[in-house]
Amino acid sequence: MTASWPRRPLAGPFVPDELGHAGSEHLDPSYVAGYDTKQKYDPAPDVAALQGRGLDGRSTIIDMGCGTGVFTLAIAPHCRRVIAVDVSKPMLDRLSTAAKESEIDNIECVRAGFLTYEHEGDPVDYVFSRNALHQLPDFWKTLALTRLASMMATGALLWLHDLVYAFEPTEVERVLEGWFGEAVVDPTNGYTADDLATHVRTEFSTFTWLLEPMLGHAGFHVLDTEVDRRRTYVRYACVRL
Ligand SMILES: C[S@@+](CC[C@H](N)C(=O)[O-])C[C@H]1O[C@@H](n2cnc3c(N)ncnc32)[C@H](O)[C@@H]1O
Repeated sequence: MTASWPRRPLAGPFVPDELGHAGSEHLDPSYVAGYDTKQKYDPAPDVAALQGRGLDGRSTIIDMGCGTGVFTLAIAPHCRRVIAVDVSKPMLDRLSTAAKESEIDNIECVRAGFLTYEHEGDPVDYVFSRNALHQLPDFWKTLALTRLASMMATGALLWLHDLVYAFEPTEVERVLEGWFGEAVVDPTNGYTADDLATHVRTEFSTFTWLLEPMLGHAGFHVLDTEVDRRRTYVRYACVRL
């Protein structure tokens, strides 16, 4: 499939209601209020990495599945245009409020998702997405990645973080036991073993060796990857061919 595939939302009776499938917790304002404390995400290394890969005041970037916008808010002062896309209204409301309070005026918040975001304007230079693609089953991940490629300029960079399984099926119990064993106990302060087990049971994280061909098929070349030592989080840098 080519990267010139339509930017318009997918249409047809086969398309799921994306806005209704954010993951129920992401639609819950009280969960969203505590989200940043639970996540403990520091965007500084990602901002520095993208600057190291050419991002500057002329650049445009989509943050797909932006959540409360911790990355969006951190990258905005360093680029021209940030499009923050998420299916969850409570997440976007929080980001809009923070952007107003910080007097940042180059962020556009869009309520949509991987399958429904309709890009307007020139193709973007960067797409960032952290811990959101696993919301979609693999068939839909492939469509999502192909849609993202269609919104990106040739040579643009996809910076993708997600919970992705970097192990063989036969290792599953050992690797997951190690991951759960390092989880926090207090759910307000991070992800508990129960949270992580729920993720594995109910969400759509996939194996690295399945995701990587999807990236290739969607029109990306994987430049480099970083696999977390627990082998359950991976960061991909991909160029749009
Ligand atoms: C675990 S949060 C990650 C948020 C943020 N990127 C971060 O790093 O903290 C997952 C986000 O993906 C959003 N999401 C769920 N399904 C989505 C979809 N189909 N398209 C785009 N975003 C989606 C959720 O609403 C939620 O804000």
